[in-house]
Amino acid sequence: MKIKNIKVCAFDAYGTCFDINSAAQNLAKEIGENWLAFSTTWRTVQLEYTWLRSLMKKHKDFWKVTEDSLDFAMTTHKIDSVYKIRLLELYKKLSPYPELNKCLLDLKEKNIKTCILSNGSPSLLEELTTNAGVKDLFDDIISIEEVGIYKPDPKVYELVTKKNNCQPNEVCFMSSNTWDVVGGGVFGYQSIWVDRFNKTFDKLDYMPKIIIKDLSQLLKYF
Ligand code: 2OP
Repeated sequence: MKIKNIKVCAFDAYGTCFDINSAAQNLAKEIGENWLAFSTTWRTVQLEYTWLRSLMKKHKDFWKVTEDSLDFAMTTHKIDSVYKIRLLELYKKLSPYPELNKCLLDLKEKNIKTCILSNGSPSLLEELTTNAGVKDLFDDIISIEEVGIYKPDPKVYELVTKKNNCQPNEVCFMSSNTWDVVGGGVFGYQSIWVDRFNKTFDKLDYMPKIIIKDLSQLLKYF
């Protein structure tokens, strides 16, 4: 099947373009054999805090939420606080997935506009994409800070349609986060699930038509 009438390809950042476990992985020796369990707690609580803050209408930006969730995960997994600063520094420089660069170049070749749509604050996304050498490969970098509420609030997904003066179904949205795929899908995007981790999809009344294992499989749909 082919994806038609797309005005812009929007990409989730954390977990889709960038490897969220690469921060803890860089300190695996220091953290110990449970480094992945620790990283998973950090990510899970980080997301929980974004959802809870949106529901409570108590917004704090993604960097502060990332630090708060790191504190929680370090306490839970009894990781020495001496590593906190290094983990935060590493989080600003997460590794891009290896196929990201070529995916963006191939889309550019086809004159398809691209953007990031992320919970990350503007400065975080600037540093993340610059460090990964992909900042200039995106036509736009959109942070939820513009609307002051986290995904999956519809106001976040509306940022892309407003900035590109297009309909929701003219946006092709890639995310590895199932709840984010649903958020974009129920808003009207053509959402694609990047199922990097062989997960089970959520039961939230939306199923993506296309599921890919990584971004190298995206171009065959255009
Ligand atoms: C994002 O980048 C948190 O992965 C989510 O918006």
